[in-house]
Amino acid sequence: MMAALQVTPFDPCCFSNRNSVLPYKSVVSCYRKKRGLGNVNLHYVSRMSHNCWMVFASQGKRLDYMNCKCQQAESAGGVTADIGCMPVHQNLNAPETIIDNVNKVFSKSIEEESWNLLRQSIVYYCGNPVGTIAANDPSSSSILNYDQVFIRDFIPSGIAFLLKGEYDIVRNFILHTLQLQSWEKTMDCHSPGQGLMPASFKVRTIPLEGDDSATEDVLDPDFGESAIGRVAPVDSGLWWIILLRAYGKSSGDLSVQERVDVQTGIRMILKLCLADGFDMFPTLLVTDGSCMIDRRMGIHGHPLEIQALFYSALICAREMLAPEDGSADLIRALNNRLVALSFHIREYYWIDMKKLNEIYRYKTEEYSYDAVNKFNIYPDQIAPWLVEFMPNRGGYLIGNLQPAHMDFRFFSLGNLWSIVSSLATFDQSHAILDLIEAKWPELVADMPFKICYPALEGQEWRIITGSDPKNTPWSYHNGGSWPTLLWQLTVACIKMNRPEIAEKAVKLAERRISEDKWPEYYDTKQARFIGKQAQLFQTWSIAGYLVAKLLLANPNAAKILINEEDSELVNALSCMISANPRRKRGRKGYKQSFIV
Ligand code: GLC
Repeated sequence: MMAALQVTPFDPCCFSNRNSVLPYKSVVSCYRKKRGLGNVNLHYVSRMSHNCWMVFASQGKRLDYMNCKCQQAESAGGVTADIGCMPVHQNLNAPETIIDNVNKVFSKSIEEESWNLLRQSIVYYCGNPVGTIAANDPSSSSILNYDQVFIRDFIPSGIAFLLKGEYDIVRNFILHTLQLQSWEKTMDCHSPGQGLMPASFKVRTIPLEGDDSATEDVLDPDFGESAIGRVAPVDSGLWWIILLRAYGKSSGDLSVQERVDVQTGIRMILKLCLADGFDMFPTLLVTDGSCMIDRRMGIHGHPLEIQALFYSALICAREMLAPEDGSADLIRALNNRLVALSFHIREYYWIDMKKLNEIYRYKTEEYSYDAVNKFNIYPDQIAPWLVEFMPNRGGYLIGNLQPAHMDFRFFSLGNLWSIVSSLATFDQSHAILDLIEAKWPELVADMPFKICYPALEGQEWRIITGSDPKNTPWSYHNGGSWPTLLWQLTVACIKMNRPEIAEKAVKLAERRISEDKWPEYYDTKQARFIGKQAQLFQTWSIAGYLVAKLLLANPNAAKILINEEDSELVNALSCMISANPRRKRGRKGYKQSFIV
């Protein structure tokens, strides 16, 4: 159990906030006898305690707390009250050390606040912590499904707990979501493939059948069958594998990944991802909205984010899979896919000034094995924004590649996770960070970090998003700025030994994020406004900031998430290229150009 867990006594004034129990389907459940007010599910107590805290806030307590932080800062630095809570608006006459101290105290108080908020978002199942709620804003009138535990949203929460040495919640999360994996899930009368992990789940407390004096907790997953747009969450299982490895590395407890049911869970995810289809590419073929961007945004096909997570999950799974009878085929398939996938992404998704110039001069309609323009890309696709955007130094992996179509948009998570997982080469990884530095005003501006760049506008927006009013230009998934991406940025920067980039981003976030109440995302090209429909007290904004802070303080800990370049893979790749007669007829210097 978590020592610092704060569960306030049940306060009837908050009772009206209690979520009603909705119709459910349950396989995973546990029950307990009612004992007076103790029958209230801890999950709800946690939410209610937060609600109560906000009631206090309206009575001035929250204000006191904020004031208190400022006073602390003042007394530590002896700087006048004009400095307020914003260390960036510094008194320029103050000696540097004083400003440093003020900044440190200020940042420490935000860190403390974020820990409190993170703990208040914990969800309990049968009395045990199993995850964190997506957003915990009691003032919001439209919580939609933000009262659920999202698999992807829990990852930064889980990492924060691991870094703090609080392993139980992560272990419970891993094992309970595993139980959900094998659920029967349908949309109308169709069931998606076995092995799919849910996008989210909710803990419901319901009366126990046949016993009025008892209740039971049930875990109710959503595989996309009630999610907005009914999208299947391809990324959930991939993140689950990545978190499982991080748990083992961080806690030293390998018994979880060695369990038979966990091994079976890994295999089920792999089988689903590695199954043969009609596809010609080694990249994973998915529908629109199968990842963090869980809406129609023109990222169907082979979006970079899914490929980076897929690669990372394959590497992590290979590390954890126990050799057993009958697994040789799976391991072989996995290794082959890793080699082909990394080649494909490094070679065909990469663009920089040099490659752009090649594309600009592409011949089209080539029919041969040695075609240079393999996907028949028409150079006219190079948009004016891209000519402006591409710096002389730097490059990135494009968002998506399909026959006759390159989606040149910069997608942040895919690029950052390609660095973390070593899907990108060493040089490419540095080039991505070079680009981030060069394009700071476009990608970061007032709040890290744009989810993608640039936004879709006009007719393109109408066609691609289906005129989605939430995805208007520079908002939400369409070029909005998401503070949660801070943690992936930090891991990538630490891996490449360039933490100063992440430090700069964290400082920028600290100027507003707490005062703005930890929004889910920001709007406008400069990220100046809190997102129009953004939830406040969004847990992964809080956890993303915390993970960034914790890792910058202890960069070595980032190892639990990083995959170093695998020399066996590089060798296998060069053997594969030289053994393939068709490839040999390809362009000269091919092999050298890949192994950077
Ligand atoms: C939004 C985001 C999704 C996230 C969910 C819960 O739907 O697009 O990525 O998991 O909110 O925060």
